Amino acid sequence: MILVTGGVGYIGSHAVLQLLQAGHDVLVLDNLCNSSPVALQRVARLAGRAPRFVRGDVRNRNLLDKLFKSYPIQAVMHFAGLKAVGESVREPLRYFETNVGGSIALCQAMAKAEVFRLIFSSSATVYGEPDRLPISEQCPTGTPTNPYGQSKLMTENVLKGLAQSDPRWSIGLLRYFNPIGAHESALIGEDPHGVPNNLLPYMLQVAVGRLERLNIYGNDYPTPDGTGVRDYIHVLDLVDGHLKALQALTERKGTHIWNLGTGRGYSVLEMLEAFEQVSEIALPYAILPRRAGDIAQCWADPGKAAQELGWQATRDLRCMLTDAWRWQRCNPQGYGVAPIKPALVAAMGAQLPVKTVPGMPSVGGSPSGRSFSSAATHSRP
Ligand SMILES: NC(=O)c1ccc[n+]([C@@H]2O[C@H](COP(=O)([O-])OP(=O)(O)OC[C@H]3O[C@@H](n4cnc5c(N)ncnc54)[C@H](O)[C@@H]3O)[C@@H](O)[C@H]2O)c1
Repeated sequence: MILVTGGVGYIGSHAVLQLLQAGHDVLVLDNLCNSSPVALQRVARLAGRAPRFVRGDVRNRNLLDKLFKSYPIQAVMHFAGLKAVGESVREPLRYFETNVGGSIALCQAMAKAEVFRLIFSSSATVYGEPDRLPISEQCPTGTPTNPYGQSKLMTENVLKGLAQSDPRWSIGLLRYFNPIGAHESALIGEDPHGVPNNLLPYMLQVAVGRLERLNIYGNDYPTPDGTGVRDYIHVLDLVDGHLKALQALTERKGTHIWNLGTGRGYSVLEMLEAFEQVSEIALPYAILPRRAGDIAQCWADPGKAAQELGWQATRDLRCMLTDAWRWQRCNPQGYGVAPIKPALVAAMGAQLPVKTVPGMPSVGGSPSGRSFSSAATHSRP
């Protein structure tokens, strides 16, 4: 059995699905502070069987000890954590307590239970402002400019120290670049609480009329079109990397760092144009000054993961945007309400076939369906 902390969240829910589909039993621990239990119901529908779910906090040592006593846990994927950069600046202690403290509590409970295989959700933010591109795992870590990034780097250092002190540990530090997209069924996807921090969720909410316009922070970066460049990776490719890492760790001790990215960067304006093609919606946007702490460009050298895990991302940008848009269009309010059924999507102008998930009412729709958002009619400034 695999314990998945934060398994109700965006990446965790896709990981739980893929673990179940690969034949693993899964126990999810999540306090639901940034997720909806509906996600797990939908995962169960897709997988044809449900994971075990315990609502609780990863900082709760007593609870963790009970879980390790009660379930035959062999390994842990640790997604639970807080991830909003701006919030981390306002509430640094909450971020350090949850992200670093939660990871320490988890490792203490694992050590007590003699479970030593761990996958940790780290981030490319630990590299700080890169001095060369693409970024390989050999590049030194930098100085993350916010408590969120610092908490990831601190946790990596805690885990490295732990593995140095006790050779029984096998730990994967997976440095994510920019996960986007959703499962192709449109049943699970990213449903951020509050105003999204990241580019694509923001664009999606503008496209369905939940936000008025896209704000682009800076068009004077030293990049081809002046806007920031990032390496976007489909969440399903990202999760595939986790399963490969989990397997690889059965034969490896110590800590192992793997970048999970595609190796290709896209600027904000390229993302906007690609999204407009997929959605057939012209998004209103405004160019604002740069945001403190944002770097100009960042993309991965994913060669180490390819060599050591036999992993590489297979889904291109169009696929990422198509899946993300299908998710948002079928769930304009996220998990808050039932997904929109195909007939309704069709009435809204969907043109392509709908994906049917065996054994459940199908949902989904056309990547090129017309907008049903009033925002689509706004013109650009
Ligand atoms: N999404 C990204 O762009 C990105 C990039 C790099 C790294 N990461 C990391 O990947 C992990 C998963 O990210 P995500 O995008 O799925 O975020 P998410 O917020 O959707 O998922 C995190 C989950 O953890 C749960 N959680 C938070 N604090 C908890 C606690 N104290 N106890 C138990 N559960 C708790 C939340 O309820 C949520 O379900 C996070 O650690 C994040 O920092 C994410």
